Amino acid sequence: MLYLGIDSSTQGIKGIVIDPEKGNITETALNFGKDLPQYHSPEGYLEQPDPLIKQADPCMWLDGLDLLLQRLQKAGVPMDKIAGVSGSAQQHGSVYLNSGAKTSLANLNPEQSLSEQLKHIFSRKYSPIWMDRSTEKECAELKEKFGTLLQKCTGSPAIERFTGPQIRKFAKEEPENYRKTEKIHLVSSFLCSVLTGKHAPVDFGDGAGMNMLDLNTHEYHPDITEFTAPGLKEKLPPAAGPGTAAGGLSPYFEKYGMRQGIPVIVWSGDNPCSLVGTGCTGSGVTGISLGTSDTVFSSMQEFQTDPDGHGHIIGKPTGGFMSLLCFSNGSLAREQIKNKCGISWEEFDSLSRKSTGKNYPLMLPYFYPETTPLRLTPEVKYNFDPASVSPEKMVRILLESQALTMRLHTGWLPEKIRGIRLTGGASACKGFRQIIADVFQADVETILVSNSAGLGAALIVANVVGKYPFNQLFEQFCGTVETTKPNPAMKEYYDTALIEYKKLENHQM
Ligand code: XUL
Repeated sequence: MLYLGIDSSTQGIKGIVIDPEKGNITETALNFGKDLPQYHSPEGYLEQPDPLIKQADPCMWLDGLDLLLQRLQKAGVPMDKIAGVSGSAQQHGSVYLNSGAKTSLANLNPEQSLSEQLKHIFSRKYSPIWMDRSTEKECAELKEKFGTLLQKCTGSPAIERFTGPQIRKFAKEEPENYRKTEKIHLVSSFLCSVLTGKHAPVDFGDGAGMNMLDLNTHEYHPDITEFTAPGLKEKLPPAAGPGTAAGGLSPYFEKYGMRQGIPVIVWSGDNPCSLVGTGCTGSGVTGISLGTSDTVFSSMQEFQTDPDGHGHIIGKPTGGFMSLLCFSNGSLAREQIKNKCGISWEEFDSLSRKSTGKNYPLMLPYFYPETTPLRLTPEVKYNFDPASVSPEKMVRILLESQALTMRLHTGWLPEKIRGIRLTGGASACKGFRQIIADVFQADVETILVSNSAGLGAALIVANVVGKYPFNQLFEQFCGTVETTKPNPAMKEYYDTALIEYKKLENHQM
């Protein structure tokens, strides 16, 4: 039997099918910008005049889902052998559905595309995504009302991109459209609803990115939810624990050769799914995903919050908690430097291995608003004269600074980072792997599949539906391909560089 994990990320959708009996993996992907140019979203979101606003057309995600399944079928995957589906999605984004959604979801016609028949179910045309930073005011209001309770209860203080502040802003600015909204989904629970043909629950992991879910009770906190927007609790899907079946696959998907009724397991966020897909669910190993944003995540024994408020605590898909830090300028900054230097990714990789010399040239690479630490407007700053270094050297300076910010902001984690598993596109960059190993003085392992979020979703279905134990699945699908050892001679250098970096970040230089 086969198990399908779908990963709906910022820039595209990927599908991964695993066969635990044979150990086989089949992957397919599409890119929104290239494959669905009609949505004018080359980076996965619409160009808007206000740089703090980042929204996407949910119909693009629907067309993406149709196209992905078409491609999987064309790739020769025996679709009728798929025994269960789950998925992973970019976190925090929200989808607003009107009262017609329930009927439309339940009566999907295979003769038409998903977007054709669902385009009328949205009470808000565009969905704010995790890159949106336009809710500073709403965060201040939540902070004023609830103070430290918010972080103690939901695992995070009020955060601009989180779903609650986004909903509050919508309810204030468009009260009539808010009134017409019957259900507000996360991207994950929305796509899961499309698969099942009925409103699906939000899972604990992704739900923790809403600023409303009480992580102690696993229920939406009634006061926080009501303050966020009046009557909101009734508009939210229920929260469900890891591995819950959301329903059976809608008959619509028979058109791709899939069997109707196969179990659809609740979708989670890309970071919780990546924790599973990198095999980092145990203690002592930390996952770092180098994607559009860079994220650092690890399993957590005890609920402990970040005193600086940058880190989040969220539900772990295998039960318990995990920590998450998000550095928004990940590949966005790497791309900026690559383009500024006029080089290819191959050249970027080879330059990343050239030393900058030991005089701590560092930079704050906030080409876009940053999450950790919070910067609502871009801020690129150097502790040297940028005109004095060759553009090429900038590559190494950027990567060292990116690794140092990760080390700086994970210092509060109760468990020291002893081993790292790297995933995401930039994990292919050899020089960056060595820099991360040296900055953390920890072994850095890469794994075979770079789409760890989609793989995590597939492993969750194989575990829940196929009853394969996680340990067996990790051994089969998350084996180490390469280990990069830290160079102990670099310890002292980076210990000092960390202090320098902190000063730069705190505007002390
Ligand atoms: C995590 C976050 C991002 C998105 C990217 O808090 O905002 O990692 O999940 O897809």
